[in-house]
Amino acid sequence: MALFDKRTKQSLGGASSQPNISTRDIPSEVPVIGLKNTVIYPFTVVPVFFEDTTSLRALEYAQTHDNIIGAFAMNKPFDPSVKEESDDQKFPQLKPEDLNVVGTACVIHRVMPVSGKAGAMVVLQGLAKIEATHIRMEDDLLKAVVTVLDETVRDSKEVRALMKNALNTAQHIIQNTPYLPQELQIALEDLNDPLKFVYLLATLVRFDMAEKQMILEEDSVKEKLKKTAAILSRELEQIELGGKIVSNVKKEFNKMSREAFLRQQLKEIQRELGEESETQQEANEYRKKMDSGDFPDEVTKDVGREIERLESMHPHSSEYQVIRTYLDWVFDLPWGVAKSKAVDLKKVEATLNADHYGLEEVKKRLLEYLAVQKLSPKLKGPILCFVGPPGVGKTSLGKSIANALGREFVRISLGGVHDEAEIRGHRRTYVGAMPGKIIQGIRRAGVPNPVFMLDEIDKVGTDFRGDPSSALLEVLDPEQNGTFRDHYLDLNYDLSQVLFIATANILDTMQPALRDRMEVIDLSGYIDEEKQEIAKTHLWPRVLERHGLTKSKVKLQDSVFPVVINEYTREAGVRNLERELSKLARKVVFDMVHGKQKTATISPEKARGYLGSQRVFPEIKARTSRPGVATGMAVTQAGGEILFIETAQMPGGRGFMVTGSLGEIMKESARAALSVVRSRSEKLGIPDQFFKRNDIHVHVPQGAVPKDGPSAGVAMVTAIVSLILNKPVKHDVAMTGEITLTGQVLPVGGIKEKILAAKRAGISTVVLPKRNESDVKDIAPKLLKGLKVHFVESIDEVFSLVLSK
Ligand SMILES: Nc1ncnc2c1ncn2[C@@H]1O[C@H](COP(=O)(O)OP(=O)(O)O)[C@@H](O)[C@H]1O
Ligand SMILES: [Mg+2]
Repeated sequence: MALFDKRTKQSLGGASSQPNISTRDIPSEVPVIGLKNTVIYPFTVVPVFFEDTTSLRALEYAQTHDNIIGAFAMNKPFDPSVKEESDDQKFPQLKPEDLNVVGTACVIHRVMPVSGKAGAMVVLQGLAKIEATHIRMEDDLLKAVVTVLDETVRDSKEVRALMKNALNTAQHIIQNTPYLPQELQIALEDLNDPLKFVYLLATLVRFDMAEKQMILEEDSVKEKLKKTAAILSRELEQIELGGKIVSNVKKEFNKMSREAFLRQQLKEIQRELGEESETQQEANEYRKKMDSGDFPDEVTKDVGREIERLESMHPHSSEYQVIRTYLDWVFDLPWGVAKSKAVDLKKVEATLNADHYGLEEVKKRLLEYLAVQKLSPKLKGPILCFVGPPGVGKTSLGKSIANALGREFVRISLGGVHDEAEIRGHRRTYVGAMPGKIIQGIRRAGVPNPVFMLDEIDKVGTDFRGDPSSALLEVLDPEQNGTFRDHYLDLNYDLSQVLFIATANILDTMQPALRDRMEVIDLSGYIDEEKQEIAKTHLWPRVLERHGLTKSKVKLQDSVFPVVINEYTREAGVRNLERELSKLARKVVFDMVHGKQKTATISPEKARGYLGSQRVFPEIKARTSRPGVATGMAVTQAGGEILFIETAQMPGGRGFMVTGSLGEIMKESARAALSVVRSRSEKLGIPDQFFKRNDIHVHVPQGAVPKDGPSAGVAMVTAIVSLILNKPVKHDVAMTGEITLTGQVLPVGGIKEKILAAKRAGISTVVLPKRNESDVKDIAPKLLKGLKVHFVESIDEVFSLVLSK
C-alpha cells in the first residue's frame, strides 16, 4: 500500500511541482533496479519486494553511494515459470533489453529483510522522471546514464475539469472497492497539484503495467489526466458489473432452487459475454421491442418482469408458452398516442354524402357531434348510438365516418354476450385465457385511435357469469376509459382516443344505465322512394362492380326497382334488397356466359323470371275484408310492422279468450279493450244479452312470434266493435294507441317506424293518438306523402273514421 509522503508534499507545495531539491541530487549515472509489476512515479512512496540478484546488488551499491537509484519497469510481463524451470539459478538476472527506458529516480528510505525469504522489502520514494540513454552491465550490476525529464505543469481550466472528472470516477471506485481506504478520497480531494494527483491515482488504482508505464511516459499532464480518466471509467464499469452480477443473482436466489440458481448465474455470465441461449435470444427480442416502442411506465415495469421470468424458464414448459403468448399480445397492441389528424368537416360531409343516400338528419347530427369534438377535444361527449332495424346503414355509416376521419374501423358484435369476461378477458391463471373483445378489437385495428363499433349493444345479457354491461359502462365512460383494465393484460390501456359508436335495433331492451351514456341517433328505415334511390345510386353500382360488370354491359331498367322492392322484399332497411339485386347480377352473368352475349338489359319481366315467384303479397285487403279484423302497427327488432288483430265470437257465455303469444301487458290491454266495449254497449247499440250469450276470442297472428306492449289497445277495441256490429274495418286504415278504461287514447312510441311500416304495406290512412302529433311534425314531409293522418283523443272518435258503412 502506497501512501503519499507528507513531508514531500509540504516541502514541494506551491505552483511548481518540480521536486528541485531532489533532482539536483540525481547523479548522471545511477544503479538500476527492475520493477516486475509496478511503476514508481515521482512524489510517491512505495514498498517493493526485490529478489533478483541484479536489483539487490544495485540497492547495495546505492546505499553505499548517493542512496539514489533508477527504477525502471520491465517492458514485458514477468514470467515466473522461467524461474521455476532453472533450479540452479534461483534469481534470474535482469537484462538491459528487458527494461523500459523511461523510469523514475528514487531515493531509498528503508531496506528491510523479509524473514524466511531471500530478498528484501524496500521503501522507495520517487523523485523525478528520468530517461536512460544507455544501460550497461558491470559486475552483476546494471548502471544507467540518465537525464532528468522535466515535468512542468501548465495549469488551465481544462486541467481542472479533467481532475474533477477523474476525482469523481475515483470516488465511485473507492466507494465500491473494499481494499481502498476511504481516507484516500480525502487525500485526493486535498491534492491541488495535477501531477501529484494523477500519479497518486495511477499508483493506487488497478492499472496494468503497460498503462502505468504509459502514464509515466506521457509528457503533458493533460494527456496523463485524460488517459487516467479513461482507464478509471473502464475500471469503474468492471466494478459495477461485478456488483451487478452478484446482486442480480442474489435477488433471484431466494426464490429459486440451487439448480435454478446456477442456471441463472450461468445466464448472467453468458449475457455479459454476449453469448445467448434460446430463451435469452427470445427474451432479448422482446427487450428490443420494448426499447423500440413508446410504452407507458407500468408496461415497461410489469412486462420487463415477465420477460425476466421468461428468461429463467425452460423453453418447453407450458408456462413458457403462456408467457410468450402474453408478451405477444402486449407487443402486438398499439400503445401510446396516435397522431391525430385534424378533422376536416367538409371532407367528412362529402364522404358521408358520397357513401349514403338521404339520412339528412343523421348526417347533420353526426357533423354536429364531430364539430363539437373538433372544437374542444377535451370535452368528452356522450357515445353515439345508432338505433334502427337491420339494413338501414348503421354499420356502413360507422365505416364511412372512419373513412372520412382517416381512422381505422373495427366492429365487434355484442349480440349474445352474457359473460363479463368476453368484454374484459379472463385472468391469465385460466387455461386458454384471452383478452376480451375490446382489446382484441384494438389489436385488430392496429392503432390506438380507431372508430370502434359496438354492434347490437341492446343484446347483451346478464346472467350468473357476471354482468357484461358493467364492463361496457366502463369502456364507454370517458372518465374511466383512459385506464381500462383487461383481466388478461392486467395493464391499464388508454381507450380515450377511441371513437366508440354503438348500434342497437331497439332501445327498449337496452340497459338503462347504458342508454344514459349514449346519444341516440335514430335510423328508422326507408320508404319505397328512398329505397329506389339507394338501390339505383349505391346498391346496384356496387353489385355490378362486385360481379365484374359495368353499367354499359348490363342495363337495369328503373322500373325493376319497385318490382324487387315490393314483390320480393318487405323490410325497413335495404339488406334484402341488396341481396336480391346480387341475385339478379349473378343470374345475368350466368346467362351472358352461356349465351355468349356481351350485353344484357334487365326488364321487370326478366327480373321476375330471375328472382322466381313473388314472395311478398299485399294481404291487407284480403285479411280485413271480414268484420272483426283491425290493422294495428307495432315496432319490433326488424323495425316497424303492421299486425292484424282478429276477433271471433261464438255462442257459449263462458267468457273471453286471448291468444297469439301475447305478453302480460298485451293480455291486460285486451281485457281492458273488452271492458271499454261493454261499457259502451248501449251507445254502440249492442244488444243487452250479447255478452251473456257469446264468447269473444281475440287472436294476434303470427301466433309463434312473442308480442307485448299496450299500443294495440285502439286496434283491439276497434276489432271487437267491428265484429259485434258486423261492420268491416276499412282495409287501407291502420291504427295505434294505448287505451284507458274510460276510452281515452294515450300516446305510444315508435311513431316514425310505424308510419314507415304502414306505407310499406300500402296503407293510406293512419289513426294516431293526439299527443303523438309532435312526433309526426318531426318526420320529413316526403315520408308522409300520400298518407292521411288522423289524431284522436278518445276511442269514440275512431269508429266513425275506420268502420265502413
Ligand atoms: N342510405 C344509404 N345509402 C346507401 N347505402 C345504404 C344506405 N343505407 C344502407 N345502405 C347499404 O345497405 C347495406 C346494409 O347496411 P348495414 O350498414 O349493414 O346495415 P345495419 O348495420 O344497419 O344493419 C350496406 O351495404 C349499406 O351500405
Ligand atoms: Mg350492422
